Amino acid sequence: MKEKDKIRDSVKKAYGAVAGSEKSCCGPKTSCCGSPAATETLGEMGLSCGDPVMFSRLKEGQVVVDLGSGAGKDVFLAARVVGDKGRVIGVDMTPEMLALARENAEKFREMTGIDNVEFREGTIEKLPVEDASVDVVISNCVINLSPDKPAVFREVFRVLKRGGKMVVSDIVLNRALPEKLKNDAGLYAACVAGALMLEEYLEAIRGAGFGEIEILKDAMYSTGNAGADPISLKYGKALEGAASSITVEARK
Ligand SMILES: C[S@@+](CC[C@H](N)C(=O)[O-])C[C@H]1O[C@@H](n2cnc3c(N)ncnc32)[C@H](O)[C@@H]1O
Repeated sequence: MKEKDKIRDSVKKAYGAVAGSEKSCCGPKTSCCGSPAATETLGEMGLSCGDPVMFSRLKEGQVVVDLGSGAGKDVFLAARVVGDKGRVIGVDMTPEMLALARENAEKFREMTGIDNVEFREGTIEKLPVEDASVDVVISNCVINLSPDKPAVFREVFRVLKRGGKMVVSDIVLNRALPEKLKNDAGLYAACVAGALMLEEYLEAIRGAGFGEIEILKDAMYSTGNAGADPISLKYGKALEGAASSITVEARK
């Protein structure tokens, strides 16, 4: 197996286990999420590092793709905004996450009566999405997990319509990590060991062909603001200040 495939495989195993341990109120085997207000938290697993839906200022009728959609949190938030004339496609490579997301999609349809979401199995380095078919690509704490970030940005550029935009929240490094931490599979799955330095990250976006690039938010990453991510919590303290959570917008 090639090195990049090994990394993806280990990330897939880690998130398969996270999906399997989902026990929240909105988990697949419970039915307590029937109230309309619960669509706001549907698919929330505490795995995010930003709010790309809010920053992307979506409009009714738009086509949106969410890279690494997990249990679907941002897909459902976006789906409420784009409405039944729009469409939101979540892409994820982990079967257990897709299963959770699809169960949540059923609940979303029941709660809202809107049928505008879809979850596709695939990698973000080779998106199962047509060329020039998307208005907005969002992603929340996923690209750092990719073993080939330039390929991800090239794929985003390919699927966006001309004038379309990408709004992604992600982790970048403020200082290079020691070799020992860089090779820690758990820390990689925790969204830190695989992260690029900010300048490298922006260069990968430029290299894919994006012109206008803007950092909308830049916040030091710490256990305090990492949320309840079950993997990050284990490593957070040792890494204070080493990484930031950023939200970047780039236009095609
Ligand atoms: C940290 S979680 C974030 C989930 C979701 N965006 C959220 O905010 O709740 C990372 C997700 O990305 C998926 N993922 C990681 N690397 C991927 C890749 N190369 N291709 C597709 N999905 C990937 C994982 O399966 C997992 O569901």
